[in-house]
Amino acid sequence: MAITISKLQNLKEQGKKFATITAYDASFANIFDKAEVAAILIGDSLGMTIQGNSSTLQVTIEEVAYHTKCVNKGVENALIIADLPFMTYSNVQDACINAAKLMQAGANVVKLEGGSFLVDTVKTLTRNGVAVCGHLGLTPQSVNIFGGYKIQGREEEAAQQIFEDAIALQEAGACMIVLECIPRSLASKITKALRIPTIGIGAGKDTDGQILVMHDALGLTLGKTPKFAKNFLAQSSSVLEAIKLYKSEVEANIYPDDSQSFD
Ligand code: KIV
Repeated sequence: MAITISKLQNLKEQGKKFATITAYDASFANIFDKAEVAAILIGDSLGMTIQGNSSTLQVTIEEVAYHTKCVNKGVENALIIADLPFMTYSNVQDACINAAKLMQAGANVVKLEGGSFLVDTVKTLTRNGVAVCGHLGLTPQSVNIFGGYKIQGREEEAAQQIFEDAIALQEAGACMIVLECIPRSLASKITKALRIPTIGIGAGKDTDGQILVMHDALGLTLGKTPKFAKNFLAQSSSVLEAIKLYKSEVEANIYPDDSQSFD
């Protein structure tokens, strides 16, 4: 059965965890769909995993739209989320034009990085029929502002800002929020405070859902493996079995464990 935003909302309300993953092509997307992940993200991580760049900043809207079309062809049931790349939503009009490109390529939801400054953008997109996923914490498009891929929200003021940003995105109409590389306790506090589902990556086990870059779930990471990554293929006989294992560990609240989370 096709996964909808309301289905994810119901899972949150029932306290049931869900697994999501990135994909960039029809073949992997089809395997992940068969493993019954709840959502597949065409992440701008494709700039690193597919294109071999050192950041996501070079990725264009045309490239995300192309990969979204590919993923869409492999998916029957999973919710499809596509990333708005760097500087494609720096004003409301650009956000609308570029979100339309992703929706027309087959996305069900678009994701954008940032907090309260995006309230008008999120309101306008949702009013125009575009479901929006927020992304807070370590937002890779701001790597140059952060001075590297560092854990965010460890200091009280920064944690409070992320918390307030999450509430602001929800009130603006966002339907879910990705929380990347923040302390488990902060992700837990945000998840409890929000009506909409949170999806964590390096944010501990208390978020409603988890997401992994597919390469990190299959032991294919280029360069340094992140602390939160787990190679599910190492214990499995196929990619399908590996992603089924990932899903079952997320649903049973086994993955991520404390060693795969930040304090
Ligand atoms: O681009 C991406 O793959 C992402 C995930 C890390 C959440 O945004």
